[in-house]
Amino acid sequence: MKKISVLVTGCSSGFGKLIVLKLAREGYQIYATARNLKSEGVLEVQEITKRENLPIEWYELDVTKQSQINTVFDSIKDRGLDILINNAGFGILGPVEKYTVQDVKNQFETNFFGVVRMIYTFLPLLKKSLRPKIITISSIAGLVIAPAYGLYASSKHAVEVFIEALRYELFDSNIKISLIEPGGFDTNFTKNSIGLKIKKDELIPSWYRNVINIRNRHVGAENNIISKKRDPQLVADLVFKIIQSKNPRLRYVIGQGAGVGYFLRKLLPSSIWDWMMRRILRYLSVVK
Ligand SMILES: NC(=O)c1ccc[n+]([C@@H]2O[C@H](COP(=O)([O-])OP(=O)(O)OC[C@H]3O[C@@H](n4cnc5c(N)ncnc54)[C@H](OP(=O)(O)O)[C@@H]3O)[C@@H](O)[C@H]2O)c1
Repeated sequence: MKKISVLVTGCSSGFGKLIVLKLAREGYQIYATARNLKSEGVLEVQEITKRENLPIEWYELDVTKQSQINTVFDSIKDRGLDILINNAGFGILGPVEKYTVQDVKNQFETNFFGVVRMIYTFLPLLKKSLRPKIITISSIAGLVIAPAYGLYASSKHAVEVFIEALRYELFDSNIKISLIEPGGFDTNFTKNSIGLKIKKDELIPSWYRNVINIRNRHVGAENNIISKKRDPQLVADLVFKIIQSKNPRLRYVIGQGAGVGYFLRKLLPSSIWDWMMRRILRYLSVVK
């Protein structure tokens, strides 16, 4: 019997790496993609693939490059595609006013237009599948607005709207569309985030310095998972659960701080939320 095929973006580290391993071990045919096929993470997965004889094929794909997306499309189109997983992304973190229009565009090029390009390109193949799904890794930051996440959260909010509208509009197709809204997980996300390495810039507000200090104390990394709740394997397992589900939900909130933040944001009136944010920033501005 033909294996169910899954295309995943951003598989060189973090969630992407774990998603392809989890699904390949469960018997899915994986089209894994990464923008650098010689990166440490890709070589590590290739080594495991060989050892365990897993069904994983690799393709070079930067989600900002339509020509590379087209090349992958041409390579797999005759075999079809059942599931698309939009995972590639990164964060430009820091005070909104410190960035430029070009920075905002760069953030959107990957996190938003990357998703848009992948969906527009592969939708025709998914429509021919008997069990098509699109799963997009968004972020709790796409639902709850917090300081220091302005650029990143803007791009993820755009993803939220685009995907939700698509889900409604495809009501009479068999394509199941879901979003995953992770809170904090220990991947290479923090290491790869622009804006967290600010050193001696006098113009950086003190509240933001404290945000960085707190992050540095309480956030791990791919090879340094600091608590079970921050283990990115939980997200890979959730992807598998969604794939197996006949009728997946639109949104899956998961991870540290995500459920509580989402619940409070929905529950509290905006005026209280606004007051809380200002209080927190005022406190972070003075605390040493
Ligand atoms: N970790 C968290 O706490 C968290 C929370 C909420 C949401 N997320 C989301 O989860 C997704 C995966 O992130 P992660 O946590 O696994 O971080 P990660 O370890 O940094 O992995 C990000 C992956 O995306 C790839 N990528 C970045 N820009 C790309 C581009 N233009 N084209 C193709 N691939 C690109 C990276 O490739 P390179 O190795 O080449 O850089 C890497 O493989 C992202 O969408 C992120 O926004 C993460």
